Amino acid sequence: MVDFSRDPTARGFFAPERFESRVYDCEVTGEIPKSLNGAFVRVATEWLYPPRYPHDSIFNADGLVAMFRFRNGIVDFTERWVHTVRWKNDLAARRQLYGLYRNPFTDDPSIREETIAKPYLRTLANTNILTHGGKLFAMKEDGPPYELDPETLATRGPMTFGGKYRSETFSAHPKIDPVSGEMICYGYEATGLASNAIFLYTVNRAGEVTSEVRFEAPYVSMIHDIAITQKHIVIPVFGFETSLARLKAGKIHWAWNAKLPTYFGVLPRGGDAKDIRWFKGPLREMVHTFNARTEGEKVILEAPVGESNPFPFFPADPGNGDPPTVKRGWHVRRYTMDLASRSDGFTEEILYSQPIGAFGRIDDRYISLDNRYVYTQFTDPARPFDEARAGNLRGRVTNCYARFDLHGHGMSTYFAGDTHSLGEPVFVPRSATSPEGDGYLIGIASNLAEMRSELVIADAARLEAGDVARVILPFRLGSQVHGNWLAGDHLAFT
Ligand SMILES: [Fe+2]
Repeated sequence: MVDFSRDPTARGFFAPERFESRVYDCEVTGEIPKSLNGAFVRVATEWLYPPRYPHDSIFNADGLVAMFRFRNGIVDFTERWVHTVRWKNDLAARRQLYGLYRNPFTDDPSIREETIAKPYLRTLANTNILTHGGKLFAMKEDGPPYELDPETLATRGPMTFGGKYRSETFSAHPKIDPVSGEMICYGYEATGLASNAIFLYTVNRAGEVTSEVRFEAPYVSMIHDIAITQKHIVIPVFGFETSLARLKAGKIHWAWNAKLPTYFGVLPRGGDAKDIRWFKGPLREMVHTFNARTEGEKVILEAPVGESNPFPFFPADPGNGDPPTVKRGWHVRRYTMDLASRSDGFTEEILYSQPIGAFGRIDDRYISLDNRYVYTQFTDPARPFDEARAGNLRGRVTNCYARFDLHGHGMSTYFAGDTHSLGEPVFVPRSATSPEGDGYLIGIASNLAEMRSELVIADAARLEAGDVARVILPFRLGSQVHGNWLAGDHLAFT
């Protein structure tokens, strides 16, 4: 029996819908630019079966992948589950076999022995979706990526990279170098539960692994995202902790610990484990990065950064919580690591006082290069919001996109509407040769008044002008983690 009544998150706008769908020629308001030829793909977390533990993280829900396919001003929509090992086992059993987020010791006894030995079999492919080497794949950081058919979104299976990718895990935030076409990817907890091994790989544009570097983190923590420059790779380590003892005690994988320091590992591209240098400083929370660059002997990183625990479902153990003086929320911040200095500290600047969300995007053609603009979402309290309709989004409504100019010329904003909450924006260039920032911001808005999801399209250089167009779905989409734009030539779209 499927019963979501014990799950406090299964209410209101993000109550599980659990169906696969196809909508031909979606309803549109405004006019979709004909130059938008490609697809917006996104992945949401959605429970196929209710969680075994009501306090579990939504990050432990199944992956539901959606594709909005654009051509000649029209849009077709497809949504399908990622058929992971776990999804198939649950469906066969007709119940949730898997326990807490990344803790196989809490799994059903019928599978526990195998999932403790091979925790990567629990992965859900629910965090990000990307294309590289001619393949489309969905990812979660506790196991291998799953390849999907780009036409139908049917699951092809876990990716192996010809056996040359040896980490048990694969990050949900690989970086693709726009100059070389290489993908820099990694796995942490690479050799098993609570291991501090990190394996970092370079994959060439044909999808072949060309290098592997193995090193150890200063402590075992969430390494959700990295940043690359043309010369270096920056690896942030911050704030969370885990251990085998913790997992065997039946606790959720992560605990926040405000007593831990932040580290930035700086590894030269093409370097080896002995070349990595760790810079240390006060605790920060950096789930995502914007971008990084190397200027002479300095490695400069920009990111949406906070100073407190971002995830209430990963609480601190007694005595390790945030002090009352901690600064809440995220800001656009810049970090500088000086390779010429004998100091292993880093410097920090807050570039804008405006509080923002935890997501950070740029024009992806500038990954590893000197970019001028960053994009994120934020809540503007001065904009009207229909609080009566907020439901289980009360206090969490994100009503605006923002573009920040790193050259110091301010921010510009897009407002989604007084009953709308926005997911992560994605930048789409107007054409392959457009200058940085010339293009569109695309993302999903939850329309709380109509209980439906809408894909919004705004001109990234004229955000205040509002909608260019919207694609209207006649139902709700699950809570998005990440999405990306796939240019038409990327997967042979016509
Ligand atoms: Fe992420």
